[in-house]
Amino acid sequence: MRVLVTQEIDPIGLQILADAGLEVDVRAGPRPIDRAVLLDRVGGCVGLVPMPTDRIDAAVLDAGPLRVVAQHAVGFDNLDLAAARARGVICTNTPGVLTDATADLAMALLLAASRRVVEGDRLVRRGEFEGWRPTMLRGLDLRGGVLGIVGMGRIGRATAERAQAFGMTLVHHRGDPQELPSLPVGLDELLGMADVVSLHFPLRPETRGLIGAAAFSAMNSTAVLVNTSRGPVVDDSALAEALRPGQIAAAGLDVYAHGPQVEPALLALDNVILAPHLGSATRGTRRKMAELAARNMVAALGGDVPPNRIA
Ligand code: DGY
Repeated sequence: MRVLVTQEIDPIGLQILADAGLEVDVRAGPRPIDRAVLLDRVGGCVGLVPMPTDRIDAAVLDAGPLRVVAQHAVGFDNLDLAAARARGVICTNTPGVLTDATADLAMALLLAASRRVVEGDRLVRRGEFEGWRPTMLRGLDLRGGVLGIVGMGRIGRATAERAQAFGMTLVHHRGDPQELPSLPVGLDELLGMADVVSLHFPLRPETRGLIGAAAFSAMNSTAVLVNTSRGPVVDDSALAEALRPGQIAAAGLDVYAHGPQVEPALLALDNVILAPHLGSATRGTRRKMAELAARNMVAALGGDVPPNRIA
């Protein structure tokens, strides 16, 4: 039984698949797998381990005798679950293991954008640092500031917990804060009161472009936006329009509206930090993701209930 893995993953995942007697085809390369290569190589495979960058739709599901799709990510907006269900293909994801790493990155972007760290780095490299100055690169005070979490799920809560340690007050829209002292508010209210808005909700048809021009006009001119969820939930060209005249102060982005193609207007701005989808990129987390994806695959192919079934 053959399994296609569409990118190199931590060796532990490959070992688990091989130990289960599966033949593993790992496609390596710096870019996401080409659609034509995916359609070709999935032929003859009973299992597929895709990345969030691979569109797994009816055409892919029909290209091989697929029984299981074990996504190597928690987000699964790239999977057509209805098509998988219709074909009896089991789908799984990797929740939980990347919560801390992603919340750490949200916090890193929050801190760096709020305190203008990257702008400062560029200034120093340009040779423009002429000494300490009371008015240079003043940023946001976190203690006493309001963090608005849009999507209080696992990662939203973990980010909120971290921000609480910095003295921030919490409000949220959607989700459950559990033990956290966070006030539930409407989205417009949150946008109007938050010093930092951090996005943690999945990409769905109704959330595509949710944070656009209207949202930016509702935000404060000193506010910071952080996006570590999915790129298309933000309208990046409206974001550039809002950042340019200082309608909002800054942004820290890990994901982009059009995949790795970053809105050119954003590239030209100093008050936005652009990260290459690093949310779960720690050695330990990527190891756990590979392990979980492989365990899901082995369980499902063996006829057991996989730990993280989503379809
Ligand atoms: C996910 O898991 O959904 C991330 O975006 C990749 O780590």
